[in-house]
Amino acid sequence: MSATVVTAKDLGRDYEVGGGLFSDAGIVRAVAGTSFSIEAGKTLAVVGESGCGKSTLARLVTLIEEPTSGTLEIDGRSATKPDWPSLRTDVQIVFQDPYGSLNLRKRVGAILEEPLKINRPKMSAKERRAAAKEMMRLVGLREEHYDRYPHMFSGGQRQRVAVARALMLEPKLLVLDEPVSALDLSIQSQILNLLNDLQERLDLAYLFISHDLSVVRHVADDIMVMYLGRPVEVGPKDEVFAAPRHPYTKALLSATPSAEPSSRRERIKLVGELPSPMNVPPGCPFAPRCWKAQDKCRAERPVLEGEPHPAACFFPEA
Ligand SMILES: Nc1ncnc2c1ncn2[C@@H]1O[C@H](COP(=O)(O)OP(=O)(O)O)[C@@H](O)[C@H]1O
Ligand SMILES: [Mg+2]
Repeated sequence: MSATVVTAKDLGRDYEVGGGLFSDAGIVRAVAGTSFSIEAGKTLAVVGESGCGKSTLARLVTLIEEPTSGTLEIDGRSATKPDWPSLRTDVQIVFQDPYGSLNLRKRVGAILEEPLKINRPKMSAKERRAAAKEMMRLVGLREEHYDRYPHMFSGGQRQRVAVARALMLEPKLLVLDEPVSALDLSIQSQILNLLNDLQERLDLAYLFISHDLSVVRHVADDIMVMYLGRPVEVGPKDEVFAAPRHPYTKALLSATPSAEPSSRRERIKLVGELPSPMNVPPGCPFAPRCWKAQDKCRAERPVLEGEPHPAACFFPEA
């Protein structure tokens, strides 16, 4: 039996925006009504177009920002703000661009040892050094990389450093926000293999965020498709790939080149713009772009439900 590492219930995050010279004040509902749980050793992939709330969700789960609604539990404990200090080391994040997240003036050794210095005051310098070198081996970096600076690495190697640093405090959950999106295709698969390997060895739970379904295919156990801040389909990866229920998922899959090589799908072209999250239409948020939309879709918002896995659609695919 596996332990549940993270549980989100009806999580939401609003931002107040505008009110400046050029725009009226308003509220952006960046994430709304989002529920999921992830067990140790498992990966939930979150997919959707740019602006659908993926990075906001990442910030909520990594305790960088507080949700404006809903609840979060990490390792069986409530994760409201007063609980953050005791939970912080359990959850770590890796970003798309390690240049933005690594201290470029420090050598790799110092980057990896810094979290230990702060959080494990009883460790000696020698023990920290040993732990950093052990982690470097684990992520496929070489001994001599210890004294190098981040700019001396290739993009893929730098992402290995970012993963190593995220793992130094033995987290239970890793949030990966587009971790390979900036890398060449061949390097992407190396990093994805590394992540799979680390997950197996360390029994890590992953929240893996990507706009790209072909990336997610290699890592996900479950998939959550988001649209304008809300999940519209959630299910086991194989099911979602083989038989998507929401028209939006179907459209995303049809635009993913290597998604279904055996059964070639016709590419579905989405018409219309993604509506502004400040101005989400009533009814189903996807209705303005959906080829199946009927009056009901424009009037009522469908809830996430149904078999074999839930989708938020009144007229799901069979
Ligand atoms: N700090 C913020 N203030 C105002 N709006 C924000 C803020 N962060 C994100 N948003 C808005 O919330 C929505 C979701 O953004 P984001 O979570 O970055 O999406 P994604 O990562 O899927 O591209 C977008 O419309 C974005 O403009
Ligand atoms: Mg993002």
